[in-house]
Amino acid sequence: MEGITLYPLRNTHKKIFGEGVDKYFTPFVTTPKNLHFKKREKKDILPEHIEGFKDYSKEISVQIMSGNVETFVWGARQIRQLGYRDLNLNLGCPAPTVINRHKGAGLLTDGYYLEEMLKGIFDELKDDDMDISLKTRLGFYDPDEAKDLMESYARFPVKELIIHARVREDYYSGKARIEAFKDAVRAYREFGGKADICYNGDVNSPEDFERIMDSLGDVRDEISAVMMGRGLLYDPALVRRLTGGDGVHPDELRKYLSELYRGYSEYIPEDRNVICKMLEHWAFLHVHFKDCEKHLKAIRKAKTRGEYTAAVNAIFADCKFV
Ligand SMILES: Cc1cc2nc3c(=O)[nH]c(=O)nc-3n(C[C@H](O)[C@H](O)[C@H](O)COP(=O)(O)O)c2cc1C
Repeated sequence: MEGITLYPLRNTHKKIFGEGVDKYFTPFVTTPKNLHFKKREKKDILPEHIEGFKDYSKEISVQIMSGNVETFVWGARQIRQLGYRDLNLNLGCPAPTVINRHKGAGLLTDGYYLEEMLKGIFDELKDDDMDISLKTRLGFYDPDEAKDLMESYARFPVKELIIHARVREDYYSGKARIEAFKDAVRAYREFGGKADICYNGDVNSPEDFERIMDSLGDVRDEISAVMMGRGLLYDPALVRRLTGGDGVHPDELRKYLSELYRGYSEYIPEDRNVICKMLEHWAFLHVHFKDCEKHLKAIRKAKTRGEYTAAVNAIFADCKFV
């Protein structure tokens, strides 16, 4: 699902809607066996591209996709040298290409290996002045797997444990598994786990947030943060709404779109490629425009910046903003 959560989005979101957001996560950066970052992944985390953050070492967490100690440690140290302190290990990506390489959620199938890997990582990096967080799912096939996973995670000085309340086989669909999430958090604490716990899954509106927080019952007090994925792409003002503020205004959305366009056009020069990125955003953002199918079609067909801008102007002029 990566591709649009790159620095143009982080910078733009921070600038226009960043109030109330504690931390942004980069899409995963792969640390391959040859110990060279992929060029485009490295580009995304170069500090020279960061705009508008006071202290990115606290406000941006870099996620690493690795299946072994050596490449994680190498990658973490490289990233630390770029000024980041907050590193996150991906234990949740469900993509077959990732699973087949024994990475992401693929690591959840082999508890013994995963624990050895975590042991190696935390031993090696104990004096490296960085915080390591984990982004996990509740299991690969079944949430009953969570208990053993939590027992393993509790053995290490994890800074933050982010739990996406699904299993790998769910991918991104079906409802978040709240009861299984609660059991996992309780188990983690019973095993002595001390990390801050972050809830993730299906927070797309203030109503979702309230409903999910209510259904967490006694476990709610254990949660120190909530991560949002798709919700923020549908509604960039979601965090503001969660804290009692206004929904997105059309003028802000226009500014957001044009800043994103500017950001992507520095990242990838050709109009059509920039438009492709914008289309991925429009796949979420169209929900703000009533009866906009005809205009969306025009946006999809746009080949130049001029055609794209004309189609966007038309959608704002003709469609009711909701
Ligand atoms: C466009 C997009 C890109 C994502 N990239 C990553 C990623 O690189 N690493 C990761 O751990 N999760 C990634 N996710 C998953 C989200 O972090 C989150 O776990 C998932 O979408 C469930 O949360 P939600 O219901 O709030 O969307 C991505 C999600 C989206 C929509």
